[in-house]
Amino acid sequence: MHILIVYGTTEGQTRKVATFLADHIRQRGNEVTLLDSTEAPRSVDVDAYGAVIAAGSVHNGRHQASLFQFVRNHRHALQTKPTALVSVSLSMASDDLQDHVEAAACADRFITASEWTPTVTHLVAGALRYTQYDFFKGWILKMIAGAKGASTDTDKDHEFTDWSDLEAFVDAFLKQVHEHGDLIAKPSAGPTLDDGVNQSQQA
Ligand SMILES: Cc1cc2nc3c(=O)[nH]c(=O)nc-3n(C[C@H](O)[C@H](O)[C@H](O)COP(=O)(O)O)c2cc1C
Repeated sequence: MHILIVYGTTEGQTRKVATFLADHIRQRGNEVTLLDSTEAPRSVDVDAYGAVIAAGSVHNGRHQASLFQFVRNHRHALQTKPTALVSVSLSMASDDLQDHVEAAACADRFITASEWTPTVTHLVAGALRYTQYDFFKGWILKMIAGAKGASTDTDKDHEFTDWSDLEAFVDAFLKQVHEHGDLIAKPSAGPTLDDGVNQSQQA
C-alpha cells in the first residue's frame, strides 16, 4: 500500500509527528510519500495513493492555511479512500477536559470548512519550543501554557507528544486501510451469479 502523508508545521513538532508516522508505516511494509503542505504541488495525484494522512498544528485556533488549501483542493479524491486528520495542539497536553473539547472543536472547524470528512481524526499533544520563540511568541506561549496548566519554564523546550499513543493510532488506521484494500480487491464478496445457479441447482 502506498500512503501519502501531507503535513503543515510552524515550529517543527508536526514534521516530527509526520516523520514518526511515515517511519512506522514503512516498517509495517508500506510505501510512504511525505509532503510538506507548503511545498505540495497542486498537481499531486491523490488518486494514486491507497490512503492519506493530513497532519497540522493549531495556532490561534487554526491549522496551517497551506494544509487547509491542500485538503480543500483534493476533497473529492480524499473522500473516496481511508483518510486521517492528525491535529497537534497544546490543548491536548492539558489535564482539563475542556481544553480537549477545544482541540476537538478546532479539528471540527477544519473539517467543516474544508468539506472533507476524514475516516478518523486523531488529536495529539504538541510541544513548547520556548528556546526557539522570539520574545513576543515566547510571551504569548507562556500565557497560553499557564492557562492550560503546561510548563511556563521558558529556559527549556517541553515535548508532550505521547509516541506510544501515536503508534497505537497508526496501527489501528493501517488495519482499516488494509481492510478497505481487501474490500476493493474483492468487490463481489456477496453472492455471485454462479452462486445463485449452484444454489438453485442444489434446491
Ligand atoms: C503563536 C502560537 C499560538 C498557538 N496557539 C495555540 C492555540 O490556539 N491552541 C492550542 O492548543 N495550541 C496553540 N499553540 C501550541 C501549538 O499548537 C504547539 O506548540 C504545537 O506543538 C505546534 O506544532 P508545530 O511545531 O508543528 O507548529 C500555539 C503555539 C504558538 C507558537
